[in-house]
Amino acid sequence: MGWNNILLETEGNTAVVTINRPRALNALNSETLQELSQAIDQVAGDPAVSVVIVTGAGEKAFVAGADISQMKEMSPLEAREFARLGQQVFDKIENLAKPVIAAVKGFALGGGCELSMACDMRIAADNARFGQPEVGLGITAGFAGTQRLPRLVGKGVASEILMTGDMISAEEAHRIGLANKVVPAADLLKAARDLAARIASKGQVAVRLTKSAIHQGLNMDIERGQAFEADAFALCFTSADQKEGMDAFLNKRKPNFSGK
Ligand code: HXC
Repeated sequence: MGWNNILLETEGNTAVVTINRPRALNALNSETLQELSQAIDQVAGDPAVSVVIVTGAGEKAFVAGADISQMKEMSPLEAREFARLGQQVFDKIENLAKPVIAAVKGFALGGGCELSMACDMRIAADNARFGQPEVGLGITAGFAGTQRLPRLVGKGVASEILMTGDMISAEEAHRIGLANKVVPAADLLKAARDLAARIASKGQVAVRLTKSAIHQGLNMDIERGQAFEADAFALCFTSADQKEGMDAFLNKRKPNFSGK
């Protein structure tokens, strides 16, 4: 598809979605958000894709935030529409029935940090810098940063990041659980592809139900979450993958999953 600000490449069972506005450090304007939404729809409907990687073009940034030049003159109602647009696109990533890995190099600020948090996992290059600098612009976070960051790192640490606007290093992001791991910048995409391949080699019915149980469960009390998990577990027993996985184990061979 002919997008201006998004690249989508599929290699084997992994799709790489790249935010491609490097001259504006990949800042998210409405057009980029809409194109990102279409790219996610495309990978959702592609049966060849098991895992998605989201990254940013250029050396300097994953995404340096929502586009400040677009936001500056917004009316309050336009600002709410813009916040809702970003929230809906990021919800689409969180609800996508395939795992999504953020590969973060350079700046992941504001809407960029929020985009990374809508993904299931974050791998950080050693030059990554995360932050929610919105308060320095006189605004709150608007693409669900006030909601996802406390769920990921806890209320106290999230409050400090959201209320000071300070940037944190890749190492600090790793220490607080925001980044799963830190790798040399030159190895970032390889590390993300390796992680994607490890996930893609497993039974995809189970991987997708696991994503769903984690995501749904975080929005439920633990009793309902456990009931959801038991149903997800039961649903696996309708799949060829469950039969293949257990048969392979008992016959001391590698499983050959069909994803069905
Ligand atoms: C629009 C941006 C941008 C942004 C960078 N650029 N970030 N344009 N929106 N968020 C543009 C710059 O204007 C500049 O364009 C070019 O990218 C390169 O950036 P520089 O500032 O020259 O680079 P550098 O000096 O290296 O500084 C990098 C930086 C800085 C520290 C990341 O660009 C920065 O502070 N950016 C803003 C970060 C931020 O506040 N993000 C949160 C936005 S609010 P020109 O044309 O001059 O070359 C947000 C809210 C989300 O995300 C919720 C909305 C509802």
